[in-house]
Amino acid sequence: MPSLLKPDYPRIPAHVGIIMDGNGRWARRKNQTRTQGHLEGLNTAKRIVKTASDMGISFLTLYVFSTENWKRTAEEVGFIMGLVKRYLAAEMDFYRKNRIRIRHTGAAEGLPPEIAREIQAACEETKVFEGLQVILALNYGGRDEIVRAVRRILGTPEATETAGFSSRISEELIRQNLDNPDVPDPDLIIRTGGEYRISNFLLWEGAYAEYYFSDRLWPDWTEEDFAAAIRNFAERDRRFGDVKK
Ligand code: IPE
Ligand code: IPE
Ligand code: MG
Repeated sequence: MPSLLKPDYPRIPAHVGIIMDGNGRWARRKNQTRTQGHLEGLNTAKRIVKTASDMGISFLTLYVFSTENWKRTAEEVGFIMGLVKRYLAAEMDFYRKNRIRIRHTGAAEGLPPEIAREIQAACEETKVFEGLQVILALNYGGRDEIVRAVRRILGTPEATETAGFSSRISEELIRQNLDNPDVPDPDLIIRTGGEYRISNFLLWEGAYAEYYFSDRLWPDWTEEDFAAAIRNFAERDRRFGDVKK
C-alpha cells in the first residue's frame, strides 16, 4: 500500500534543494509583519525536514539567507539570524533522535560571529549522524561560492609554484573546492512562492538539476506539496545531454 511518506514510485532524489520563498507575502496577506512570515516559514522548514528524513532522502539544501538578502532592513536581517540561532539550539534533540546531520554552505566569515559559532557547533555535534544531511545555505550566493572556490585553488602552493598550473584548472578541480565537495549535485530544486528564477542558488551544482516551481507560499507548504514534487520528479526524463538509447 503506497503511502505519502513511503511512496511506491521508483525514483527518490538523493539531493533536493529548496528555495523557500514567499514568507513576506504570506504575512502581508494576513495583515501580519514580515517577521511573522519568517516564523511560520520556520515551522514549514521543520515539517519538510521531518518529511524528507522519513522519505529516506539523503541531502536537503535549504536556502535560508542569500548574499543579496543583506539589502533588507536591519530589523528583518536580525530577526532571521536570531531565528536560525534559536532553531539550531531548540532542534538538537530532534536531530539526535532522527540521526540528522547539519551542514552549512555559504560564507561563514560574513555571518555575525555568534551565528557562525552556533552553526559550527551544530555541524560538529551532528557530524557523526548517518541519516539525512540538512545543508543550510546561509549567507549563500552561487557566484560567491564559485569565487571562494577559485580563491581556495589560488591559495594552494601548487598554484603559486607550478608553471603551467592554469592548464590544470578543470571542472573537477573547481568542484572539489566548492563548500561541500562530497555532497552530490542536487537532483531536484524546488522553488515555492510563485517566482520562476534561481536567485543565485546552487549555480554550479544545479547545472543538471530538475526544477519544480510551486505558486504556493512557503509558510503554506505541507508534506503533501513536498510529496507531489517528489512524484513529479520521478516522472522526469533526465538525459544529461545524451540521447535515449
Ligand atoms: C523567503 O521569503 C525568505 C528569505 C528570503 C529570507 P521572503 O522574505 O523572500 O518572502 P517574499 O518573497 O517577500 O514573499
Ligand atoms: C531567495 O529568495 C533567497 C531565499 C529564499 C533565502 P529572495 O526572495 O531573496 O529572491 P528574489 O529577491 O525574489 O530573487
Ligand atoms: Mg522572496
